[in-house]
Amino acid sequence: MYTFDIAQGTKADLYRDLIAAVDAITSGEPDAVANMANVAALIWEHVPGLNWAGFYRMVDSELVLGPFQGKAACIRIAIGKGVCGAAAATLETQRIEDVHAFPGHIACDAASQSELVVPILHHGKLLAVLDLDSPHLARFDAEDQAGMEAICALIAPRITP
Ligand code: SME
Repeated sequence: MYTFDIAQGTKADLYRDLIAAVDAITSGEPDAVANMANVAALIWEHVPGLNWAGFYRMVDSELVLGPFQGKAACIRIAIGKGVCGAAAATLETQRIEDVHAFPGHIACDAASQSELVVPILHHGKLLAVLDLDSPHLARFDAEDQAGMEAICALIAPRITP
């Protein structure tokens, strides 16, 4: 069992502790699936206001569902389709305040209202995207984006296939 002391005060406190926990649990472990699974679980347990948290991996030029927490989700997403596909196509984080206003949004869970998708690159190559969904409009701010981007930069070398 792993127990991490993760503050729920300010977002700065939350991300400081969450990044440390992610580092501790993935450090020295080379298995990509194990690391993605534990990171999804840590985010799910400690980040409030989510209804889905997990990964889509680049497999043969499309995104394929990876370890996650939440409802069963669509399995394959073409590059350029939906919010995840936009992150994969542009290699830029997508922070969407209202998914219903996003052209081509793929509704895996009808409860989702806002979404944050961070591309994960290693040596310039797209490995995966981290996808977070929330049932609240505009759930994610710049601090969430920066925190999740830091997590993705940290785990990139630890989720190589
Ligand atoms: N909403 C995403 C699809 C993945 S689910 O949210 C888990 C999208 O538009 O890419």
